Amino acid sequence: MVLVIHGPNLNLLGVREPDVYGLKTLSDINSSLRDIASKKGVELKIIQSNSEGEIIDVIQKAFHQDVDAIIINPAAYTHYSIAIRDALAMLDIPIIEVHLSNIYKREEFRHKSVISPVVTGQIAGFGANSYILALEQVIRLLNN
Ligand code: DQA
Repeated sequence: MVLVIHGPNLNLLGVREPDVYGLKTLSDINSSLRDIASKKGVELKIIQSNSEGEIIDVIQKAFHQDVDAIIINPAAYTHYSIAIRDALAMLDIPIIEVHLSNIYKREEFRHKSVISPVVTGQIAGFGANSYILALEQVIRLLNN
């Protein structure tokens, strides 16, 4: 099973700063991911949370569940949540960090990801397609 975690404020995609994050809603993105997953026969579990603790609980549960890979957009937590980083560091499965925007092209406080050192790879700057690229790559990794 591939677990997709959307962090804070991503529930408002489509409405929230559309010039930065695009016009697609979270449910548009989730539908595209579910389409790809079902075509490839991959089970997908998708969650969105505005709360750091809830995201950590979900990551911890991945320890005991049948999770083969994680795709995570930690949103603003990317830049300062050592707690989410530590939770991810416990896992020994592919983890892809995703951002809709190119965080390195934006304000300086977004240039640092405390999450990147514990993930397999990062995809940023392709809008909703960042998630699709991440899922395609996860499927490739799992098939290898
Ligand atoms: C984001 C980038 C973060 O800096 C920001 O706080 C977000 C979204 C992105 O997907 O581009 O909420 O993770």
